[in-house]
Amino acid sequence: YEKLTAFPEDFLWGGATAANQLEGAYLEGGKGLTTVDLIPIGDHRLNIALGNLDSYKPKEGEFYPSHEAIDFYHRYKEDIALFAEMGFKCFRLSIAWARIFPNGDDAEPNDAGLKFYDDVFDELLKHNIEPVVTICHFDVPVHLVEIYGGWKNRKMIGFFEKYAKTLFIRYKGKVKYWMTFNEINMLLHLPYIGAGIVLQEGEDKQQVLYQAAHHELIASGLAVKACHEIIPGAQIGCMLAAGTVYPYSPNPEDVWKAMEEDRNSFFFIDIQSKGAYPGYTKRFFRENGIQIEMKPEDADILMQNTVDFIGFSYYASRCTSTDPEILKNSTEGNVFGSVKNPYLQVSEWGWGIDPKGLRITCNQLHDRYGKPLFIVENGLGATDVLLENDTVDDDYRIKYLNSHFAEMAEAIQDGVEILGYTSWGPIDLVSAGSGEMKKRYGYIYVDRNNDGTGSLRRVRKSSFHWYKDVIANNGAQY
Ligand code: BG6
Repeated sequence: YEKLTAFPEDFLWGGATAANQLEGAYLEGGKGLTTVDLIPIGDHRLNIALGNLDSYKPKEGEFYPSHEAIDFYHRYKEDIALFAEMGFKCFRLSIAWARIFPNGDDAEPNDAGLKFYDDVFDELLKHNIEPVVTICHFDVPVHLVEIYGGWKNRKMIGFFEKYAKTLFIRYKGKVKYWMTFNEINMLLHLPYIGAGIVLQEGEDKQQVLYQAAHHELIASGLAVKACHEIIPGAQIGCMLAAGTVYPYSPNPEDVWKAMEEDRNSFFFIDIQSKGAYPGYTKRFFRENGIQIEMKPEDADILMQNTVDFIGFSYYASRCTSTDPEILKNSTEGNVFGSVKNPYLQVSEWGWGIDPKGLRITCNQLHDRYGKPLFIVENGLGATDVLLENDTVDDDYRIKYLNSHFAEMAEAIQDGVEILGYTSWGPIDLVSAGSGEMKKRYGYIYVDRNNDGTGSLRRVRKSSFHWYKDVIANNGAQY
C-alpha cells in the first residue's frame, strides 16, 4: 500500500455511527418513536424517506431495522472495548432525540435517556476515546411530525434549542466536539427522515423544503450559540453530505450546471459557516417564487453564530451534464443522482469510487470556508463473507480506505486543516439508504442478517487489524 504521511500528532482517528442504525432498543428506557422507526426494509423505504408516509405507527407485516439494529444499547461496553483495541482516538455517535425528549415537546427530559449517554461517554472516556456527537442524525420524534408537521413548523426551533441546551448542560464535562444536523443538505432529497416532513397534496415542495431549511439553520445557529456559552472551549460544526460535482464535459453549460448542483448543497454550509444567505440563493428564491418567512432577529442569529469546523461525509464525487443522452446514464443508489463517470469504478451498490475526489472535495471546502475540516463519514458498503476460521477477508475495504487515506494525506500537505477522520460504520450497522445489514462498512462484523436473524456476535475482520496499524502509526506506513 502507498505510504501515508503528514497526519498531525493529535489527529482524531475513529469511526462514525448514528443512534437509529446502531442502538436498537427502540422503545426501551422511555424512548419515543422517531421518523426512522417507521421506515421498513424494502423498496418502499426510500419512497417513505421522500415524504410519503401514511401512518404514524409501525405496521404489521413490515420489518423495521432500527427497532433492534445491532443492539448497541445493551452491548456498548463490548463494542467500545473493540474500538479501544483498534486504538480509536474518537468515536462519532448521535444522540436519539426521542431518548431525551420522547415526544419532543415534553416539559422535562427523560432521565433514563440522559443516563444512557452518560454511561456511553464514561465508557469512551475510560478508554481515552473522545466522543464526537451529532445532535440530530435522521431521527425526529414522531410526535413532533404528527402534531407540528416536523421542520415545516417554526416551533421546532424552540424544541430543538431546548434539546440541544439540555445536552450541553448535562454533558459539558464529557463532550468537546459537536455537530448540529447530520447531512443537513439531505433535507432537500429525503425530507422525511431528517426533517420529519410529510408532503401533503397541493403543497409547493420547494417552498416547504426551503422554509424548513430556514428553521433548521436558525436552530443550528441557536445551538452553536448555546454550545459556546455553556461549554467554553467546545467546538461545534455543521455536517454536509459532500462530494464535488464534476462537469461531464468542458462545455461551459455543463460546468455551470455542476456549479449550480454544488451550490444546492453549499447553500446550507454557506449560511452555517459564513452567516448569511448567499446571493445565488436569493436569486433562486426570486425566480422560483419562494418566499421565506423570517423573523427580524434571524439575520443576527445566523451572522453571530457560525460554526467552528466543517464536518462532512464523502462517499463519492458526482457528475452532471446538460446533454439529455448523457443524463440517461445515471448511477444507481445515489439519492443525489449522478451521471455515470466513465473514469470511475463503482461499488456493489453502484456508488462511484473516487479517492482523488476526496482530495478535491477537501481542497474545495478549505478554499471556500477557510475553517478546519472533519471527515466524519467515508467508507465502502460491501457484502462480506464470514469464513470458517471466524474472520472476514475484506481486502477490498482495506484497498478502498487506503487509497482514500493517501488522498487525505495529500490534502493535508496541500495545506488543508483536517481535525480527524471517522470512517462510517466501524462496526457493521443498518444501512440508512436500503435498511439492509448486508451492506457492511465495518472493521467488526456483526452476525445479523437483513431479516433480523443472527446471533449478533461480533467478529474482527482483516480490516480491523489493518486499521489498528494505521492508527498506531498515525497514518504512516508500517
Ligand atoms: C450517510 C448517512 O448518508 O451515508 C449515514 O449519514 C449512512 O446515516 C451513510 O448510513 C451510508 O449510506 P448507506 O445508505 O449505505 O447506509
